[in-house]
Amino acid sequence: MQRFEGRVAVITGAGSGIGRATALRLAAEGATIVAVDLDTSAGERIAEETGGSFIAADVTDEAAVEAVYARTVEAYGSVDVAFNNAGISPPEDDSILTTGIDAWRRVQEVNLTSVYLCCKYALPHMREQGRGAIVNTASFVATMGAATSQISYTASKGGVLALSRELGVQFAREGIRVNALSPGPVNTPLLKELFAADPERAARRLVHVPFGRFAEPEEIAAAVAFLASDDASFITASNFLVDGGISGS
Ligand code: NAI
Repeated sequence: MQRFEGRVAVITGAGSGIGRATALRLAAEGATIVAVDLDTSAGERIAEETGGSFIAADVTDEAAVEAVYARTVEAYGSVDVAFNNAGISPPEDDSILTTGIDAWRRVQEVNLTSVYLCCKYALPHMREQGRGAIVNTASFVATMGAATSQISYTASKGGVLALSRELGVQFAREGIRVNALSPGPVNTPLLKELFAADPERAARRLVHVPFGRFAEPEEIAAAVAFLASDDASFITASNFLVDGGISGS
């Protein structure tokens, strides 16, 4: 399938995990990839592997985000897909009783404000084109809460869900679709970091997954590819759960 032939996809957090797998998947389906990440060597590597380009940027930096979309349109003429995916895991002890204001603010900044910024600067280009697909990475915890307290993270992802819903409704008649993608636990460096601090947390979480395993990044990438493609032409403002059945159990 070449669903993205002639299309340009900007992917944040493309250097690792879900972003990296999605860059490879969309490139395999014909997309031109603009990889965005803080990590320069990982970003350059994925750009080389996909034959696209890499822009080193911090997604919490407004000027840098604006420049990402401006440079993409300058180089390739359009931005058809924006996968706003960069994010960080919660602080080690992320209970409402213990999470400090700085840690709270940092998580909102990277996980939620970044999505606001990416949408804000992708949308004007998409409106001009009269089409576009935005996929924002939320998490299953925004729908059902986490068994292990992670208040700043869960709240940031709840914000991503609400923002996506509102934009999906607002821009539907302009040919722009905006969806939230909510993965369950996925085998990526982010998850490994979370479990390294508390190894029993992995076992506790696994109990809640009907499949009895975590997702691989490629399984999430397949869902992003669907949502970003014309196959999802009647899907907008949705919370697309790819959680191995956690929220249904
Ligand atoms: P990851 O840690 O493997 O990759 C995240 C990438 O984002 C890294 O390459 C990192 O350098 C980049 N990044 C972090 N902060 C950045 C910033 N300020 N500016 C630019 N780039 C930045 O993580 P993973 O697991 O692939 O996560 C991707 C998204 O999926 C995140 O939003 C995460 O919250 C979400 N998610 C992950 C789940 C999991 O179990 N791995 C489950 C549900 C949601």
